[in-house]
Amino acid sequence: LERRLREIETERTAVPFDYDELERVALERLPSASASYVAATAGTGETGRANRREFDRWRIVPRVLRDVSDRSLGVDLFEKTLRSPLLLAPIGGQTKYHEDGELASVRAATELGVPFALSTASSYSIEDVAETDDSNLLFQLYCTSDFDTTVNLLERAERAGYDGILLTVDFQVPRWSPETLSRTNDQLYASSLANLSADSPANSVSDTTADPLARDESLSWEDLSALTEATTLPIYLKGITHPEDARLAVEHGMDGVVVSNHGGRQVDGSIAAITALPHVADAVGADVPVLFDSGVRGGADAFKAIALGADAVFLGRPYLYGLTIAGQRGVYEVVHNVLAELDSVVGLSGYDSIANVDRSAIVDGSSIG
Ligand code: FNR
Repeated sequence: LERRLREIETERTAVPFDYDELERVALERLPSASASYVAATAGTGETGRANRREFDRWRIVPRVLRDVSDRSLGVDLFEKTLRSPLLLAPIGGQTKYHEDGELASVRAATELGVPFALSTASSYSIEDVAETDDSNLLFQLYCTSDFDTTVNLLERAERAGYDGILLTVDFQVPRWSPETLSRTNDQLYASSLANLSADSPANSVSDTTADPLARDESLSWEDLSALTEATTLPIYLKGITHPEDARLAVEHGMDGVVVSNHGGRQVDGSIAAITALPHVADAVGADVPVLFDSGVRGGADAFKAIALGADAVFLGRPYLYGLTIAGQRGVYEVVHNVLAELDSVVGLSGYDSIANVDRSAIVDGSSIG
């Protein structure tokens, strides 16, 4: 009996299955400053809530009796065929959540064949993360107010073998939230400077006396050509919700867009990301890759986003909560569960390939009463 109990113990999963429970346990484990930072949304939190509420509005309409015995979740992206349409979103300063930080996340991503996006504001450097992973990596770029620093980051990511750049453009001005007013922000910030501090070995930019993550509030469409000239990697704009901005992105040489409102963390009262998605997808057409995040909590959500025009989706807070609770194992389990649910939903909805899932798979539930 004792042996069986030990077996059951080791078989037990490290993280809760249920998302609300996952969040509750993770937030309980964190020091209060980190917990409120990760859960934070802008202002009253209305957009954070809308990201979920508007997901629930869309309903999948399963088809039956279609041979789904040989299913594929594979998608072509960043000149590779990926095993699934899931990626891990860039989230800064991950040693705040677990001592292994981004290294744990990227190891779990490698185990699962899922691309990992490293934030500019990371706890481990571009090079350290590249050494840990040998498959698919994206680098998320914040344009700092110093152009040389920005170009240096791009060059380092390309040299280290990253597959693409996510240029985050919904972050130019600090959001309005309680921690905007709080000194704890400064402590949190210290865990986010592996790429930019003066002692970062690969940082060739000597003047690091200024705030290395200072935002460039003047950044505009005209500045993008300098970035496309500085790298041969594809650049996707992250933080697009307006269809006109998606069109401008393509016009200015961007290779794709990420529909996102930063998890509801920037403009309170702004459109839910899932509501913006079909409009952006229509604006750029089928040839331009459209990625999505903000509100994905499980495989059914990923399915809905893909039906509404996304080529792939990023998982944000859920994997971070896995990281908080159980490091690499926690990230692995959370992502594995989302992938397993996605495979199940694809099959149960009557598709043998995620590539065939389109808008005929879902309806706006609010319009059919
Ligand atoms: C983020 N996000 C983010 N985005 C980015 O481009 N660079 C970054 O450094 C960060 N950092 C970050 C920290 C924390 C704590 C959170 C929660 C989010 C945004 C992230 O990439 C993604 O857009 C959101 O997490 C998606 O929303 P959900 O699904 O987490 O609600």
